[in-house]
Amino acid sequence: MAFQYGSYRLGLVFLAFLLNSCPGESKRRNVLLIIGDDAGFETEVYNNTVVRTPHLQALSRRSLIFKNAFTSVSSCSPSRSTILTGLPQHQNGMYGLHQSVHHFNSFDGVQSLPLLLQQANIRTGIIGKKHVGPGLVYPFNFSYTEENNSVLQVGRNITRIKLLVRKFLWSHKEEERPFFLYVAFHDPHRCGHSQPQYGAFCEKFGNGDSGMGRIPDWEPKYYSPDQVKVPAFIPDTPAARADLAAQYTTISRLDQGIGLVLKELREAGFEEDTLVIYSSDNGIPFPNGRTNLYMSGVAEPMLVSSPEQRRRWGQVSQAYVSLLDVTPTILDWFSVPYPPYSLTGGPLVQLTGRSLLPALSTEPAWSTVYFSQSLHEVTMYYPMRSVYQGPFHLIHNLNYRMPFPIDQDFYVSPTFLDLLNHTQAGQPTSWFKTLKDYYYRERWELYDTRSDPTESRNLASDPTHMNILETLKTQLLKWQWGTSDPWVCSPDAVLETKLEPQCRPLYNGL
Ligand SMILES: *[C@@H]1O[C@H](CO)[C@@H](O)[C@H](O)[C@H]1NC(C)=O
Ligand SMILES: *[C@@H]1O[C@H](CO)[C@@H](O)[C@H](O)[C@H]1NC(C)=O
Ligand SMILES: *[C@@H]1O[C@H](CO)[C@@H](O)[C@H](O)[C@H]1NC(C)=O
Ligand SMILES: *[C@@H]1O[C@H](CO)[C@@H](O)[C@H](O)[C@H]1NC(C)=O
Ligand SMILES: *[C@@H]1O[C@H](CO)[C@@H](O)[C@H](O)[C@H]1NC(C)=O
Repeated sequence: MAFQYGSYRLGLVFLAFLLNSCPGESKRRNVLLIIGDDAGFETEVYNNTVVRTPHLQALSRRSLIFKNAFTSVSSCSPSRSTILTGLPQHQNGMYGLHQSVHHFNSFDGVQSLPLLLQQANIRTGIIGKKHVGPGLVYPFNFSYTEENNSVLQVGRNITRIKLLVRKFLWSHKEEERPFFLYVAFHDPHRCGHSQPQYGAFCEKFGNGDSGMGRIPDWEPKYYSPDQVKVPAFIPDTPAARADLAAQYTTISRLDQGIGLVLKELREAGFEEDTLVIYSSDNGIPFPNGRTNLYMSGVAEPMLVSSPEQRRRWGQVSQAYVSLLDVTPTILDWFSVPYPPYSLTGGPLVQLTGRSLLPALSTEPAWSTVYFSQSLHEVTMYYPMRSVYQGPFHLIHNLNYRMPFPIDQDFYVSPTFLDLLNHTQAGQPTSWFKTLKDYYYRERWELYDTRSDPTESRNLASDPTHMNILETLKTQLLKWQWGTSDPWVCSPDAVLETKLEPQCRPLYNGL
């Protein structure tokens, strides 16, 4: 009898264990994903000693800091689609920007992160810049975005963002289920192209000056052009320095906004059961940055803060991680499996990213990341595929005979206009490359980022690097096949997909 009673007790304990490990039951686990818009390494967390970012700094003390985090695509909507699906742009269909005339969307059948979470009875919310579609692929229960609000209000007015986060969290206190809240700041994006009255980075919006309105929670921080740190890939000119000083002021709004969001999380009582991730969508909007697959266009800040894994809080990880890892990480945190399905009649869709949670306990040996870009604006077709492994970075410029395209927002930036004017006038530009070299690239670019951090010496035709070139080409192609890349045979062959998919040669001399 005693024995039987004992095993009955054991059974109950086991049942309780099962219930406990089931998300949404006794142990609640939530996610707060914070994405900056074109945010880079201009923060104290990454040792910029000029710009003041105390709130990101505080978050980093509760986080693992990734020093080698990358987006797989250096463009807003494509990058956001990869964050929310775990699939590269060429696989989820968001080839370029989502808004207005560009009009790109993901495929209807994509099983996105918010969709999978919603099916697992997790409440989803988005505040700020959405910039992806269609709506059915990216459903959110709570949604304040540019689709039905002013993006300045939901993306840059940190008082408004604070109040929306409060509304989401306090209404959640009634709920049994966990939440996934995505706060997508529009700071520190440029705005000289859309809202020039507020300055090149909207750094004047809400600063209290006449006509600028006031953001009650923002205390703007100002920097002089001679103070800023000019990254090696940006020309050191008065125009670029003024541009960077404006960007720093806007970063003070992002940083204080993050502080407010984290304070709301704490005050609503969710700090101890919420995984917090901070990153950005692509490189900073400067020459050689955003829209490029160079390191300056794809390297991202990344903080992962788990209240359950504190051992590595404040440490810096060297592991190579990708925004393609965000979806697998969040699914892992909620114990939600990725379903078997296929897209457009292809093979089963596989996530090529991985959960970052194991890195929070021990430093992993991850040293490879992949990149894929097709467009930014609809006119900016410039397909590139790339792999970064150890120190070596390989870029394949598929349509290398055409000039690299320039986007509208970047074109009117003081830094680029200055570069353009000086080039046009035949004067020195203070840039590390010429505009001609920027426009016209080799088909294959191979860099050793250890000895050449600005990626200025192309080793692709260097005989001593032939082995590594071939190895990386093979690996890149393997990833392209594995992610159903329609461009896998370009530019010298045509992909025939009927029966056995294969590349059929064009004999076009490439
Ligand atoms: C910042 O600098 C310190 C001291 O040199 C270094 O230990 C740390 O790894 C750096 N942090 C990052 C994120 O690069
Ligand atoms: C929101 O949550 C409910 C569950 O209460 C779900 O059934 C509904 O479809 C969700 N989605 C949206 C977009 O509101
Ligand atoms: C925006 O849409 C969401 C639902 O998608 C709704 O809850 C919210 O009230 C809307 N906001 C405005 C200002 O229309
Ligand atoms: C920001 O939002 C707050 C709260 O909604 C509002 O009072 C304030 O006027 C807004 N500021 C600007 C510059 O729009
Ligand atoms: C560049 O040249 C254009 C046309 O001459 C001029 O309007 C503009 O102010 C110049 N910009 C810079 C940053 O020098």
